[in-house]
Amino acid sequence: SIVYLNGQYMPMEQASISPLDRGFLFGDGIYEVIPCFNAKPVGFALHMQRMQDGLAELGIKLSTTLAEWREIVEQLLEANGKGNLGVYLHVSRGMQPKRSHAYPSEITPTVFGFAFEIGDSPSSNPAQVKTFRAVTEQDRRWRRCHIKSTALLGNIMHYHQGQQRGADEVLLFNEDQQLTEAASCNVFMVKDGVIATPELDHQILPGITRHLLLAILRKDGRFKVEERPISLDEVLSADELWLTSSSKEVAPIVSLNGGPVGSGQPGPVWEQAQTLFSAHKY
Ligand code: PDD
Repeated sequence: SIVYLNGQYMPMEQASISPLDRGFLFGDGIYEVIPCFNAKPVGFALHMQRMQDGLAELGIKLSTTLAEWREIVEQLLEANGKGNLGVYLHVSRGMQPKRSHAYPSEITPTVFGFAFEIGDSPSSNPAQVKTFRAVTEQDRRWRRCHIKSTALLGNIMHYHQGQQRGADEVLLFNEDQQLTEAASCNVFMVKDGVIATPELDHQILPGITRHLLLAILRKDGRFKVEERPISLDEVLSADELWLTSSSKEVAPIVSLNGGPVGSGQPGPVWEQAQTLFSAHKY
């Protein structure tokens, strides 16, 4: 595949980054994954705003404009066959000659991008719904989960633990037994026809799919939608649970800790939400 690295396009095999890059040594960077169907990015401006916010929070100074990011994404799509591709963008603080915790004042960020196959949009084929099995766990990640950091060790350890327990995802709960998110997705719950999801704070990533889905549901108006704390007990007795992410869109969880969620089938509210999402996501 053709990748982007620091202003140039090249075959993946030719892309090289110094082992002294702070992205490698410290996980000192920010990333985005933008889903693109038929070469059309979903939520491009929102993804780039989140990247800007993350870079600002880390004090990484990068002059790349929105138009330049757009060009990078378009070029990656063009060079990689324009199909259904996820575009991964990664900015690390850069390479420093000597390993040191301190942020160096003179440093050039490393900018890397590549595209990978993501298959059809989950919403393009409702007959073949991919369903998910989840388990619950105590959230052991750091307290800055709103930053889309490349340092994903906390997330991948949770994810791995979920797989060890025979699940596809892990629903995480803070010390007050309130739902935060999943290892790689945001979470929605349905109870008695009301849709709820945790509010935005430092405990969760402000997911773009979450944002788009909330806006679409509120505009449609047929369901009551709440952003509020959600307890473990509520999750365990939910009628429906959904995962949202760029690659999964709105995906139904049908089993939790080995037992069924609701009827054990994708629920009726999910079906309507997913249909609305696929019609309006652009
Ligand atoms: N994961 N929460 C976490 C911890 C995530 O890693 C992600 C995305 C989300 C959903 O965000 P969005 O709707 O913007 O994709 C929530 C990406 C896709 C990944 O790491 O591959």
